[in-house]
Amino acid sequence: MNTIHIKDKSFTTFITEEKILKEVTRVAAEINRDLKGSEPLFLSVLNGSFMFTADLMKNIDIPCDISFVKLASYCGDSSTGKVKELVGLNEDITGRTVVIVEDIIDTGITMQRLIKTLKARNPKEIRIATLLVKPDKLQVELDIDYVAMNIPNDFIVGYGLDYDGKGRNYRDIYTIVNK
Ligand code: IMP
Ligand code: MG
Repeated sequence: MNTIHIKDKSFTTFITEEKILKEVTRVAAEINRDLKGSEPLFLSVLNGSFMFTADLMKNIDIPCDISFVKLASYCGDSSTGKVKELVGLNEDITGRTVVIVEDIIDTGITMQRLIKTLKARNPKEIRIATLLVKPDKLQVELDIDYVAMNIPNDFIVGYGLDYDGKGRNYRDIYTIVNK
């Protein structure tokens, strides 16, 4: 167990890198199996999903494209409910299979909004691959195709996820201690 301190909060080891990589590898195998022959476009949602995207893509062995977009809705440690616009999508996704690569689905509002925006561009199919889901916080109907891990409703950092911009660099995932 390791404890880290970010600003006013403390976090302790929750999911080790070893466990994360095991589940990410499993998700990659599912995608390789399901999307063989469809030449998908992976759409990584920055900033939070950068580590997940890297480890996932290292295990994808079917022909594909990777692109990166931004759509932030979080401020501090609680969801603001406000969702910003999608930036950075230059690819034509008409008729394509798109796999959204996200770090975490909390209320699901960010994902719902992103799917709506993407659907307007006429893809063939949209799939969701997320590192984490907080099932107890989900507020909207979402068909989540690939999930590395379900977690309880606590604030976490590490492996790309941040608290106020900090903590993304850790290779393990940490959960908050003094809530
Ligand atoms: P949603 O719209 O409520 O689903 O929020 C999703 C976004 O909130 C994610 O893409 C993250 O950037 C952020 N987020 C949600 N929960 C956490 C957490 O526990 N730690 C860090 N960021 C989080
Ligand atoms: Mg995110």
